[in-house]
Amino acid sequence: MWKLTKVAAVAAVLAASASAGAGEVEVLHYWTSGGEAKSVAELKKIMQGKGHTWRDFAVAGGGGDSAMTVLKSRVISGNPPSAAQTKGPAIQEWASEGVLANMDALAKAEKWDDLLPKVVADIMKYKGAYVAAPVNVHRVNWMWGSSEALKKAGVAAMPKTWDEFFAAADKLKAAGLVPVAHGGQNWQDFTTFESVVLGVGGPKFYQDALVKLDDKALNSDTMKKSLETFRRIKSYTDPGAPGRDWNLATAMLIQGKAGFQLMGDWAKGEFLAANKVPGKDFMCAAAPGTTTSYTFNVDSFILFKLKDASAQKAQSDLASSIMSPEFQEVFNLNKGSIPVRAGQKMDKFDDCAKASAKDFADTAKSGSLLPSVAHGMAIAPATEGAIKDAVSQFWNDDKVSVADAMKKIATAAKTK
Ligand code: BGC
Repeated sequence: MWKLTKVAAVAAVLAASASAGAGEVEVLHYWTSGGEAKSVAELKKIMQGKGHTWRDFAVAGGGGDSAMTVLKSRVISGNPPSAAQTKGPAIQEWASEGVLANMDALAKAEKWDDLLPKVVADIMKYKGAYVAAPVNVHRVNWMWGSSEALKKAGVAAMPKTWDEFFAAADKLKAAGLVPVAHGGQNWQDFTTFESVVLGVGGPKFYQDALVKLDDKALNSDTMKKSLETFRRIKSYTDPGAPGRDWNLATAMLIQGKAGFQLMGDWAKGEFLAANKVPGKDFMCAAAPGTTTSYTFNVDSFILFKLKDASAQKAQSDLASSIMSPEFQEVFNLNKGSIPVRAGQKMDKFDDCAKASAKDFADTAKSGSLLPSVAHGMAIAPATEGAIKDAVSQFWNDDKVSVADAMKKIATAAKTK
């Protein structure tokens, strides 16, 4: 009987879809680097294959800060796009404004609850109803290595601890290479910072300090040690880092000019777009000290309330396509991430992705699966912005002492 009900529900959604013709989807995203553009092109192709018109609304700027500013002005002027790349607690903020569409009919018909890990499904829902569709799982606590640079410097293996890391960085420096490729936005600083906090303090400390924003943890010796380690890494970056985009930092590894980059696995998308082979031309390893933990970053699209029936139909097809096995595979093969949908075959994926999928499942069981703060998965956007600024001030200005930085971060953590 329950099966019949589900079949009827699917039929109802399909019938509703069939009654509206092809429509337009306007999709706001910030996927403009080489690997990112290849990935989003796959979604466009699928939508065009369904007869819809794709209106690309790309706003350059890694991490998406510029895209979010543009999105706010569009929504305030009463002209939202069909979908916008948005994630984590920001989804709840948008939904509480009453501007998002309820996608539950589709989600129920397609059994999204059964297809998504609960931790992800919960982020996509507002008051129990789906308002967003997830595309992937990015792991943030990765470190990338350039095989050419490491070979030149005589670094035999990817470092597993921070001590090993600094020893390797010294060798790279001595060989005349840039030990750490880094860029110049606050989210890049924080991507490194949160991996350091996790590596130095472990998963419980990460959770207490950066997710729960516990005052004691933020003012502890472990935080002091994290900031000291973070500052030490800075001394291995080059003077060109300020203002550099993350993908240009990845390019330094691709060209063999730099040894390491601490960055999420969208960096792998850049290596792959440049036809580089994992395990041969470049190496992936968990950031030092973080092998048994996983900071996750789930890209997703919020879906706005639309008036026009054909636009609604195109939007529903977009959400359905995003959750389809075909899209989840082809998109994530290009993007560097792994599918978020359960039961996907991983045979076409490389070893970095396979390790990511295994570690995602393992850490979910062991309690060391953690939301990335740098990538908007853990805390309210205003608090996140304030903490990021405090951390970047410390990174950019050697005159800010560790003690002052700790105070500033703890104060920023109280921002509502
Ligand atoms: C997003 C990725 C994106 C990266 C660089 C991250 O926050 O989740 O999809 O590739 O920023 O823009």
